[in-house]
Amino acid sequence: MKKSICVLICLIMIFNTGLIAFSDFEAEKLTREEWDQLYSSLVKYNNLPTLNVGADETQVSLCWHSDSEKAVAKVRVSDSESMTDADVFDGIMTPAENPGQVVCRVTVTDLEENSVYFYQWHTGEDWSKIYKFETKSFSDHKVMVVGDIQITEIYGEDSTEQSKCGYYWNNFLSEVLSKNPDISYLITPGDNTSTGSTDAEWQTLLMPEALRSLPMALAIGNHDKKGMTYNYYTNMPNEDYGRFFSGLDRDFWFRYGDVLYLFFDSTSGNAPDHMRFARKAVEANQDAKWRIGVVHHGIYGAGDSIGDLETEILLKNIFAPIFEVYDLDLVVTGHTHSQGRSHFMESGKIKQTAPTGETFVNPEGIVYLNSNVVHGVYSFDFDAEHLAYKFIENDVTTYSTLEFKGDKLILETRRGDNSELLDSIVIEKTQEHNDKTVSKFFKKLGYKVIELLGFAYTMVDNLVRKFS
Ligand SMILES: [Fe+2]
Repeated sequence: MKKSICVLICLIMIFNTGLIAFSDFEAEKLTREEWDQLYSSLVKYNNLPTLNVGADETQVSLCWHSDSEKAVAKVRVSDSESMTDADVFDGIMTPAENPGQVVCRVTVTDLEENSVYFYQWHTGEDWSKIYKFETKSFSDHKVMVVGDIQITEIYGEDSTEQSKCGYYWNNFLSEVLSKNPDISYLITPGDNTSTGSTDAEWQTLLMPEALRSLPMALAIGNHDKKGMTYNYYTNMPNEDYGRFFSGLDRDFWFRYGDVLYLFFDSTSGNAPDHMRFARKAVEANQDAKWRIGVVHHGIYGAGDSIGDLETEILLKNIFAPIFEVYDLDLVVTGHTHSQGRSHFMESGKIKQTAPTGETFVNPEGIVYLNSNVVHGVYSFDFDAEHLAYKFIENDVTTYSTLEFKGDKLILETRRGDNSELLDSIVIEKTQEHNDKTVSKFFKKLGYKVIELLGFAYTMVDNLVRKFS
């Protein structure tokens, strides 16, 4: 009896430490040769689906390119691997960025928590291979945060760099998901692609098999905005195109259990649109316990955003007031390819220090988490008072997880090569949000001045893009 109990305790300890993980994901690590073979067999097509988060935890969305003559925007879902009694979900077709294809978008609804689903999308010829997707708890859950995926372009005829980039991306996902099989979805602060203008970047991004089972929420980064492909390869919920946005620009929000996510497009300086978007999203989700912002540029970030005029002067003044007016708990940023985390910030100052390893009960101020890049890591060792943690080891990527557990948000950052824990804090929250008004926030100058500056900046930026 004693031996059995010892074995049981050992097993529980092993599972809890993550040394053994029975993954819910098909996330195999591949050798470079195996990956290159897979890449070569897939890159000539433009047909892999993006699995995106839905408007809430009961939904996921798919988006894929299909031959315009044959396309069928349908997905079928069953709780049985034989696909018996499958529910069929119809979607819409919209023009693609090329004349031979259309974009199919389908939203799957009525998902239940802790359930296993099997699904297929229609390729235009037939139903696809069957894929498995598992929901976890809708209340307590864990989220993966990864910074700039930034799949590189094909240089002329040479696809070596792009394949290498996909190889790192696949094996990085394998590392993260094998050690964290309890992840429900992935969020990223943008720069998903390098040029935003070729289908091969998205096809490569979507090659890892794990992404058939891992819904993603993808922000727009400045590299994505070099082209328009984001528009054709994503199906994000509650998109808000604003009154003054143009081209690719949009914000979006979604809800997952007790968490409201607000994704801002920081490549647009349109402060009035961003403020209005935040108000609408927050008003529609007054009961959300947590509010998480996601934005590309490294506001209170690590690395070379420190001292960068665009980020430090313009974007910080446009976005930080919005985050503070709506009392966000955490903001995820990227862009600088440098992993770091701030203290609790408010009005440009440290409101409360946040050393690693500690728990903070009902803290005041906002923590900013600056994420790394998946491939081609380069880190800058910039000192800044606002940083509570920074990782400056070159050639090693990192990832973070957000775990929502009762009243707690557990934020952890780990190495991307072996998942060693680098940084962690716990935010415990038992109070309601404390929304402020814009007029309260700015006693003298008023946010109107910033709105005007942001608007002018965006108009100039649009002109530069048009003529460059
Ligand atoms: Fe960027």
